[in-house]
Amino acid sequence: MTAPTPHPSTEGRTPYPVGLLLAGRRVVVVGGGQVAQRRLPALIASGADLHLISPTTTPAVQAMADAGELTWHARPYRDGDLAGTWYALVATDDPVVNETVSAEAERERVFCSRSDDAAAATAWTPASGRDAGATVAVLTGDPRHSAALRDAIVDGLRDGSLAARQYRSHGAGVALVGGGPGDPDLITVRGRRLLADADVVVTDRLAPRELLAELPEHVEVIDASKIPYGRFMAQEAINRTLVEHAKAGKFVVRLKGGDPYVFGRGGEELLACAEAGLPVTVVPGISSSISVPAAAGVPVTHRGMTHEFTVISGHVGPDDERSLTNWEAAAKMSGTLVLLMAVDKIGAIAARLVEYGRSADTPVAIVQEGTTAAQRRVDATLGTVAAVVEAEGVKPPAVIVVGDVVNVLAAAFRK
Ligand SMILES: C[S@@+](CC[C@H](N)C(=O)[O-])C[C@H]1O[C@@H](n2cnc3c(N)ncnc32)[C@H](O)[C@@H]1O
Repeated sequence: MTAPTPHPSTEGRTPYPVGLLLAGRRVVVVGGGQVAQRRLPALIASGADLHLISPTTTPAVQAMADAGELTWHARPYRDGDLAGTWYALVATDDPVVNETVSAEAERERVFCSRSDDAAAATAWTPASGRDAGATVAVLTGDPRHSAALRDAIVDGLRDGSLAARQYRSHGAGVALVGGGPGDPDLITVRGRRLLADADVVVTDRLAPRELLAELPEHVEVIDASKIPYGRFMAQEAINRTLVEHAKAGKFVVRLKGGDPYVFGRGGEELLACAEAGLPVTVVPGISSSISVPAAAGVPVTHRGMTHEFTVISGHVGPDDERSLTNWEAAAKMSGTLVLLMAVDKIGAIAARLVEYGRSADTPVAIVQEGTTAAQRRVDATLGTVAAVVEAEGVKPPAVIVVGDVVNVLAAAFRK
């Protein structure tokens, strides 16, 4: 194994940066190890006519070949392999092979990158990354320095701390952004980026508050629960607020807790915006229904234990004629039940589940304010949950999980 040369001298070798458009053009990679594995995805994405020459490969590279993303020639390199090639990448652990391929590349005038010896290469692969349609490529001559700079730039673009001052990536419109369950780190990269672009943010009580603190001064933050709605229903007033601001030329982010479409009325907001002829982007979020149990040590499924989980709103209880839930069916399924907005009605819900056949001994976990600093978990059974919630003073927001999964990781998670 040859030691790579991580710090090639850049003296007198100023690279000329260029973006190669390789679609349909022959590109040869010699060597199928870890280096190739790292480089191949970007070459595949470029649409190159990609040929890998290597007697063996890693399982991940093999999978790319099996998927038809490249042509794998399972043999050693032979002179002539670079004929008709536009670009070559040499990444074997045999310096003699690397040298020989380089020599052919030089003869054939094929730009050639060398993983073992940047000084002997005629092309350097930059540390690259992509964000929202921009390719960031950094060349410093020191791969680690390049990678660190690339990370800093891409991270900055993603979280919005680095933005082109004169450029707005969004015109007027609305984005319905799932903010995740509460921990500000659990919003998606796309959600965070759109939030950083917002002129107006219409937020919910359960949307992660810390994210608002990062917004620049000029951003107008509207608390949806405080919108005066007079003769309008609260939801209509929110819809109207989104539409009015977007029509006034603003980019409006509707920041919601969890996922916009899981008991989040995201669909209604989308329809209202669409009706007003406004462009709408929907960014999924990490729903509390899965992530809050996980944060408290409960997987909603576990192999050999449950083949389904059902997310149910407890907003209207089982005795309420407005309930759209088939509680009998829910009780009779054997899998996990995840109850949202169910703290107030848990007594009636548990009783109904037992009445329809779930054992009163079925384990229950109640997780309040999951993924936040205030998270707490209280355990019970279907038979005891009403009394436990009362005695422990459990308050919304809480996710209630019913089923054997509640204890399956107990050994690893118990205090
Ligand atoms: C109106 S629903 C919205 C759900 C959200 N769209 C989602 O995907 O998580 C609100 C309910 O979600 C649950 N919830 C949301 N965030 C929570 C958290 N951090 N901890 C516990 N429960 C949470 C509670 O059951 C709460 O009453």
